[in-house]
Amino acid sequence: MKCLILSCSPRKKGVTSTLLTAMEAEASRRYETTRADVNSLDIKPCIGCEKCRPDKRCILPEDDAHRAAELIRGADILVIGSPTYWGNITAPLKALFDRNVPLIEYIDGWTLKPMLKGKRAILVVSSDAPFPFSLLSSQAGGTIRALKTILKAGGVSIKGILSVSGAETFEKRKERLIRRAVAMLPAK
Ligand SMILES: Cc1cc2nc3c(=O)[nH]c(=O)nc-3n(C[C@H](O)[C@H](O)[C@H](O)COP(=O)(O)O)c2cc1C
Repeated sequence: MKCLILSCSPRKKGVTSTLLTAMEAEASRRYETTRADVNSLDIKPCIGCEKCRPDKRCILPEDDAHRAAELIRGADILVIGSPTYWGNITAPLKALFDRNVPLIEYIDGWTLKPMLKGKRAILVVSSDAPFPFSLLSSQAGGTIRALKTILKAGGVSIKGILSVSGAETFEKRKERLIRRAVAMLPAK
């Protein structure tokens, strides 16, 4: 089984990175695991030409968007960790998905075909807003909604969501949150 961890915070010791590092350690024991630091990928923004719809491939010159697509296609389990930026996923992760529309869904006549069926996803989201304000679509609720929109279009089954709100008190709750994050990983 192959697991791909998409790590989307620029803060190496922040909430998302800390939780993903603990998950990576356990995932490496159970599956063939790869971690991608999405912020360090070279991904040009989508130019909106929609040529990828018929061609199934982005026409822009080869960059990490094409390479990351192969990693996603090859994974059975996707662990996606993103901080909330303006009620949404981070810009580099958004660019990665924007550049890979046909990896996710394909227009076949009048139907939209989900292209990632059979894959499972686990989501880790962090935000400063405390619960219950974190649920708002302008806060972490929007980050989760964005990820659900994309993954559901691909037919990916979301198996677990951990939303860490009130991130400034993370240190106090760290060990408990690490246990919850690791517990979301499916058995081998
Ligand atoms: C550009 C930017 C936008 C942000 N927008 C929000 C937001 O809309 N809602 C929120 O609760 N926190 C927001 N935050 C705070 C981060 O989501 C929060 O600090 C998060 O825990 C950082 O995660 P990390 O430690 O994994 O990097 C924002 C932070 C930045 C840098």
